[in-house]
Amino acid sequence: MILNLFIVIFFAGNCCTMKSTKAREGYPAGYLADCPGSTKEAIISNNTLKYLSIYVQGNDSLIRRRYSYHETRFLANDPDLDFGKKTMLYVGGYLDSPSFPFSTLMGVSYKSIGYNVLLLDTNYFTTMEYPRAARFMRPVGKYTAKMLADLTQEGLDPTMLELVSLSLGGQTSGFIAKNYRLLTGMNISRITALDPAGPCFRNLGPADRLDKTDADFVEVVHTNIDNFGMAAPIGHINYYVNGGEHQPGEYFWMLCTEFCSHVRAHALWIAALTYHESFVAIQCDSVQQARYKKCYDRVPQVTNYLGLKANKTVQGIFYLATTNTYPYFMGKKGLKKEYDFYTNITTTLNKSKLLKI
Ligand SMILES: *[C@@H]1O[C@H](CO)[C@@H](O)[C@H](O)[C@H]1NC(C)=O
Ligand SMILES: *[C@@H]1O[C@H](CO)[C@@H](O)[C@H](O)[C@H]1NC(C)=O
Ligand SMILES: *[C@@H]1O[C@H](CO)[C@@H](O)[C@H](O)[C@H]1NC(C)=O
Ligand SMILES: *[C@@H]1O[C@H](CO)[C@@H](O)[C@H](O)[C@H]1NC(C)=O
Ligand SMILES: *[C@@H]1O[C@H](CO)[C@@H](O)[C@H](O)[C@H]1NC(C)=O
Ligand SMILES: *[C@@H]1O[C@H](CO)[C@@H](O)[C@H](O)[C@H]1NC(C)=O
Repeated sequence: MILNLFIVIFFAGNCCTMKSTKAREGYPAGYLADCPGSTKEAIISNNTLKYLSIYVQGNDSLIRRRYSYHETRFLANDPDLDFGKKTMLYVGGYLDSPSFPFSTLMGVSYKSIGYNVLLLDTNYFTTMEYPRAARFMRPVGKYTAKMLADLTQEGLDPTMLELVSLSLGGQTSGFIAKNYRLLTGMNISRITALDPAGPCFRNLGPADRLDKTDADFVEVVHTNIDNFGMAAPIGHINYYVNGGEHQPGEYFWMLCTEFCSHVRAHALWIAALTYHESFVAIQCDSVQQARYKKCYDRVPQVTNYLGLKANKTVQGIFYLATTNTYPYFMGKKGLKKEYDFYTNITTTLNKSKLLKI
């Protein structure tokens, strides 16, 4: 009785002085964390496979040739492919298509830096309810890997093959790479996953989602980790942009919503292809530290770049500060907390004792 009373008083006392903490509030579960049955088999029939196709981007941005799964042998002879050069395969997200801007922009950007550009068309397999589309990404990965393995027989060198993927495509690229290794015994050299999808994949293990063991080098750009993206550091290098949860709005007054934050990863990568060594990221000890923007004071300060100039041997979790408008990079200012976008605004406000309007 006395003990009970003590407990009531103890907790009552605690409740009203206790600050907001994660122990009290909990952590985000993440949007659509689990999709029961998502690891069960999904089958694409031979008749439907013709919808899985790869576009080859020509020199002129308007020229692109489409090859279905059954036409891979013609794909190898496309006049715009030169297997002496590096090759980038772009894997789009939910509802995406090579005709839409995300693919087009990425294709033109890689073409301009001398790559062969392939754009995967998964539109037929993603234009349906999301959890069903997520499940179809396994066989899509398997058959795409078969196309790449057939191209390898025609001269495509996996050490010069890079996958760039957005959102659901991030998980698809994992399935492509796993199956490519099964078929050829070789690894794809690089996977760049731009805010890989969390919904239906958040709580799955390495065999059922993208993982750093899928390719020689896997980098992940996290921009919306609790909603459309994924919080786990699943790559060799994991960039948590502005903490990874949400991004500053392009138009100052407007919040960058979940979708806006999610696709920011794509815009950042496009910018990083042009502005080398401009996106400077700082290493963190944990994802939590990155979320709380607490990596600035870590000693020693270890840095890396976002983009093709990243030092692949300096791995782990990184905090990347950006501005709110294209081209987003902060250069060396990104290493100092006072330049951090919202930190700057809030500390500036804190300096005035009184606001008057
Ligand atoms: C699959 O379909 C393609 C084209 O429609 C056809 O050429 C091929 O023979 C079919 N393969 C099988 C195993 O039925
Ligand atoms: C595209 O441009 C490259 C480099 O300028 C050239 O080698 C190649 O032949 C061109 N491809 C076509 C199909 O004209
Ligand atoms: C491919 O990557 C896996 C996982 O990182 C590694 O165990 C394997 O040795 C690699 N294979 C080759 C041929 O490099
Ligand atoms: C990458 O980082 C390692 C370890 O800090 C360093 O030894 C190496 O020189 C760096 N490579 C490049 C290309 O900067
Ligand atoms: C903070 O933001 C203001 C207004 O955008 C800018 O003039 C100032 O240079 C910034 N200060 C720092 C330390 O970034
Ligand atoms: C805000 O200003 C107060 C003084 O008015 C200062 O003690 C405090 O450290 C400031 N907080 C931050 C986060 O700068």
